[in-house]
Amino acid sequence: MGKIVVFANQKGGVGKTTTAVNLGAYLAEASKRVLLIDFDPQANSSSSLGIDGRGRGIYELLIGSIQPRDVVQETKVPGLFIIASSIHLTGATVELINMPGREYLLKKAIEELRGDFDYLFIDCPPSLGLLTVNGLVAADAVIIPLQCEYFAMEGLSKLLKTIQRVQQKLNPGLKIGGILFTMFDSRTRLANEVVKEVSSYFKENVFTTIIPRNVRLSEAPSFARPINQYDPECIGARSYRRLAQEVLEHV
Ligand SMILES: Nc1ncnc2c1ncn2[C@@H]1O[C@H](COP(=O)(O)OP(=O)(O)OP(=O)(O)O)[C@@H](O)[C@H]1O
Ligand SMILES: [Mg+2]
Repeated sequence: MGKIVVFANQKGGVGKTTTAVNLGAYLAEASKRVLLIDFDPQANSSSSLGIDGRGRGIYELLIGSIQPRDVVQETKVPGLFIIASSIHLTGATVELINMPGREYLLKKAIEELRGDFDYLFIDCPPSLGLLTVNGLVAADAVIIPLQCEYFAMEGLSKLLKTIQRVQQKLNPGLKIGGILFTMFDSRTRLANEVVKEVSSYFKENVFTTIIPRNVRLSEAPSFARPINQYDPECIGARSYRRLAQEVLEHV
């Protein structure tokens, strides 16, 4: 049975998608079968890998117009598969809000795919709305990418409260897979302080690997490649490779 990991943080642009795509690529490189589920109407995971989710994506799976195995697409990375997203998912929040068991829709939709993969990754949109709650309900573990800046801390407590509510009411099996520092710039004092403070509070719930700010990571999506294919020797690539090792050992 594959492990379901959700990448969540209601703050936008903190590295959820970059982490889901590149960590997924490195786990695939380590001979794992990985399914990346793009659960964001912005469809950044899909476009990062050059995949179009119109007509054949997570929205169609949620409303039941397509079967789970027919919605999975191959990517250019052997072992890495994707359920793509599209702008159609925007309407889902409104359409699904009155459905019975609305928090369990994603969990049910991907249930029969679980046996086909070692890891199923869910890339969430930047909100704590119904989509992210569905992601948290479906998952075994949540990874929280955290940009090393002051406002990151404010959002974190709200996110942790949501996670706690989900654990209490909807998914008691949900674990914190870890907080991941992203876009770290060692030259700034604030970044160092955030890492120190968050690490001393969350202790073993923080990944040892820290993802540095690295322009190659931000370029790779426009070439529709994960970093292991775009520039495998850059510092961003090396840090995601190390993170994959950590995830294999601990998550
Ligand atoms: N370590 C990094 N170094 C440099 N740029 C990065 C790094 N990680 C992510 N980026 C860039 O920062 C931007 C935001 O990253 P990303 O899309 O992964 O965040 P996100 O949390 O998924 O955003 P959203 O909340 O909108 O879904 C992107 O342009 C991405 O390429
Ligand atoms: Mg994203």
